[in-house]
Amino acid sequence: MTMKIFESIPKLRAGLNNAGRLVLVPTMGNLHDGHISLMQHARDHGDTVLVSIFVNRLQFRPGEDFEKYPRTFVADCERLAAANVDYLFFPDEKEMYPTPQKYFVEPPAELINILEGAFRPGHFRGVATVVQKLFNIVQPQVAIFGKKDYQQMLVLSNMARDLALPIEIVAADTVRAADGLALSSRNGFLSPQERAEAPRLYRSLETIRRAIQAGNHDFARLETEAMTELRAHGWIPDYIAVREKTGLQLPPAHDSGLVILGAALLGSTRLIDNLEV
Ligand code: PAF
Repeated sequence: MTMKIFESIPKLRAGLNNAGRLVLVPTMGNLHDGHISLMQHARDHGDTVLVSIFVNRLQFRPGEDFEKYPRTFVADCERLAAANVDYLFFPDEKEMYPTPQKYFVEPPAELINILEGAFRPGHFRGVATVVQKLFNIVQPQVAIFGKKDYQQMLVLSNMARDLALPIEIVAADTVRAADGLALSSRNGFLSPQERAEAPRLYRSLETIRRAIQAGNHDFARLETEAMTELRAHGWIPDYIAVREKTGLQLPPAHDSGLVILGAALLGSTRLIDNLEV
């Protein structure tokens, strides 16, 4: 079947026939191999795969990269068709926000005022609101989110659980380049020198993971050492943090379900990554 593109909500609703178990993969476009792996997960979890591309103004603050977020529709369509995606929902801003959005999904403060949320106030409220809206429009049985954005994945899976949404949320593993760098749309902003330096973020998380696995539970010290190492190579770290996996709170010393998260600026590009222990 060739991929069918819907730009309006009524056309999508009228056109989704006999979809069976429908899997939604929400994206903002500018698709890379990491996204394409989400499409493969989607295929494994249902009968019909629907991808949305919508650059959501609500999750950007003034001064963030909403305007310069790469819009690569033609290349994205080619990649999606090659990945055997069945449907693409590609609404414009008027379709998604015909009037200014006044109702919002407000995730709990303890999950969104920390880590990414502390540096991007309002971001997760914008993400949760657009994803709930996409859920209402598409009415999927399954939705796929990448663990690369670990905090986002938790905000959305907790939202589905807390609001009893009839949707299974699937968290897909991060896809990495051969040198360890997590695939991300932002990697395209890196100069060749920065691209060569970029895997250091992953390597510093890996160093912490190995230390924890070897029995070192002095998390604060491990975090400080990693940030010092990054600074010595020209990075400006926002945080390196060892947290418990289910709510990203500070873990007791011997907790086993841990995730190590990091965000740092390399030149003018902010990279994030994480590793589960
Ligand atoms: O991860 C993203 O691309 C976006 O935050 C999402 C989930 C598509 C919501 O706009």
